[in-house]
Amino acid sequence: MSESERPEIVRHVAAGQLCCDPVWEAAYKRFETPDQEIAKFIGRLKRFGFESIDKQARVVEIFCGRGNGLVALERMGFKHLEGVDLSDSLLEEYHGPAQLHLADCTDLPLERSAYDVVIVQGGLHHLPSLPQDLDRTLAGVAGLLKPQGRFYVIEPWKTPFLVFAHAVTEQPLMRKLYAKGDALATMTDRERVTYEQWLAAPELIRQSFDRHFQIRQWDTRWGKLAAIAGR
Ligand SMILES: C[S@@+](CC[C@H](N)C(=O)[O-])C[C@H]1O[C@@H](n2cnc3c(N)ncnc32)[C@H](O)[C@@H]1O
Repeated sequence: MSESERPEIVRHVAAGQLCCDPVWEAAYKRFETPDQEIAKFIGRLKRFGFESIDKQARVVEIFCGRGNGLVALERMGFKHLEGVDLSDSLLEEYHGPAQLHLADCTDLPLERSAYDVVIVQGGLHHLPSLPQDLDRTLAGVAGLLKPQGRFYVIEPWKTPFLVFAHAVTEQPLMRKLYAKGDALATMTDRERVTYEQWLAAPELIRQSFDRHFQIRQWDTRWGKLAAIAGR
């Protein structure tokens, strides 16, 4: 796709107004190559059963970052894709047919009751205040979904595996030897306050989800929450 065919980003807020951290973004881009991210996202989407979802479904990924989750969805055949993030510089890296929105996910400015699928992959743990920002975000997502729509969630979760992974990647020697571990440790350092607040609040998070959704799946293993919620 050439630059001229690429849909314009719809800017609901002014670029750079509310975020972002260039050191965190550099580490995020170092952590995995786009190809590695796309392969990871396709694996996750398949585990969620996306191969059997209608490819005409209207899908939006919130906290979409540089948009490789959207590339994964496109490669799986989905035709109507949108992404939302607060970082103009990350959205600018995306090349594809999805309509992007520069917006705050705690105040989602999209069409209501119009989406079959909403996805988040590692965004909710960036919210500064729990449960208030989470409630605002989840209320917004519930408002976007059609009655039979589904919200698919992947977020970090404090399991023994995650505790072990952090203990290893935060060792100074490991940070020197293992570039991916260093990038992960840098991201964790920069987002420490919201990340630790998220990991420390599993019950608060579940209660917030229960206020807005019927939970269809709530799996916590290998350091991740994999949830599916509906209205
Ligand atoms: C860990 S990244 C995840 C990006 C993408 N989902 C992925 O897995 O590659 C979190 C993203 O959330 C975005 N973000 C943080 N707070 C936000 C907010 N309130 N509204 C929209 N995006 C936000 C950041 O700009 C960043 O791109």
